[in-house]
Amino acid sequence: MPLNINMNQMLDKIRELKEEIEKASVSAKEEVEELRIKYISKKGLVGQLFNEFKDVPAELKKEVGQAINDLKEFAVNRINELKDNFEGADQGELGIDLTMPAEPIRLGSRHPLSIVKNEMIDIFTRLGFTIAEGPEIEDDWHVFSALNFPPEHPARDMQDTFFIEKNPDVLLRTHTSSVQIRVMEKTQPPIRAIFPGRVFRNEAISARSHCIFHQIEGLYVDENVSFADLKQTLLYFARELFGEKSQIRLRPSYFPFTEPSAEMDVSCSICGGEGCNVCKYTGWLEILGCGMVDPNVLEACNIDSKKYTGFAFGMGIERITMLKYGIKDIRHFFENDVRFLKQFESAN
Ligand code: DAH
Repeated sequence: MPLNINMNQMLDKIRELKEEIEKASVSAKEEVEELRIKYISKKGLVGQLFNEFKDVPAELKKEVGQAINDLKEFAVNRINELKDNFEGADQGELGIDLTMPAEPIRLGSRHPLSIVKNEMIDIFTRLGFTIAEGPEIEDDWHVFSALNFPPEHPARDMQDTFFIEKNPDVLLRTHTSSVQIRVMEKTQPPIRAIFPGRVFRNEAISARSHCIFHQIEGLYVDENVSFADLKQTLLYFARELFGEKSQIRLRPSYFPFTEPSAEMDVSCSICGGEGCNVCKYTGWLEILGCGMVDPNVLEACNIDSKKYTGFAFGMGIERITMLKYGIKDIRHFFENDVRFLKQFESAN
C-alpha cells in the first residue's frame, strides 16, 4: 500500500513541522521574517504541503487537508506571536510601537525677564490686584502732566525722553505710571491693579542702564487706603519674591505723583544683610519707588480726592531680575545669546 505509506509520511512530516515551529526561537526581528519565509511563504515548507496535497487520494483528502490547514493556522499564529513578543505587545498595524517614549522636542525657554515678571504678577494677583496695560507711544498728559510733573521738571528734558520731532506731544513713555492715569480716567475706585510694560529713556547704554527696559507699576485706590497698607503690601511682596526672611526699609524720597514718597530697600538676599559687593556692603538693595497718590493726580482723573486715597509703586523688572539671579550686565537681556538664555531653562 504505497499510498498509505505516503500518507503516513505526510502526516509525520506535518507533525515534525509543527514541533519545529513550536520550538523555534528568535533573537532578532529579521529572524521572525526568516521563519515566515521558511514556513508560510508560498514556497515555504507548509506551502509545499499544499502542492503535495493534490496527490492525496480522494478518500484521505479530508483528514490530510484538515491537518495541513491546522498546521498552517498554527504556524501563522506562532510566527505572529513571535513578532509581537519581539516588537512589543502594543505594536499596532502601523508597525509603530506606541508605547515608545517620544523623541523629545527641544522647546525654547522663557526669557528671564518674563520669568520674573510672571512671578511678580502671581504675587500681586494673590493679593487681589488685576492687570492692565497701556500704550508705549504716549502723550505728555499721561506720562507727565496728569502725574503732577511741573512744566519745568527735569524728567521732561530732552535727555530723558524720546520725543517725536514733528510733534513733541507724542513720546515714548518713560515709565509705566502713565497706565495709572489711563486706568483712573476710565474707572472709579476701588481700583487695585498692576501695570507691567516696556519703557524707554534716552540714556547711554551701559552695564547698568539701557534705553529700553521694563517696569511694573502698582496702584490701589479706595476709601481709607493708608501708608500702612502700602507698607504691608510691599513687605508681603518682598518676602514672596526674595524669601521669607527678607526685611524692607522705606527711605523718604520725592516723586511728583506721590506725597509722601519713598524709596524701598530690601535686605540683600545674597549676603542676608551682612554686607557684600552686590549690596555695596550696606546690606540693602534699592528696588522700588512708592508713595501715597498725590491728590492732584486723583483730581486730574476726576476721582474725588476727599473721598478716596491711594498708594502707588513702581519698579524695574531688569533690576530685580539682576538682583535675583546675580546678573552683572543689563545688556545680557537684549543680546539673545542662547548661552545666557539657556541658563534659565529650569526656572521656567
Ligand atoms: N515712575 C517711577 C520711575 O519710573 C517709579 C515710581 C515711583 C512709580 C514712585 C510709582 C511711585 O508709582 O509711587 O522711576
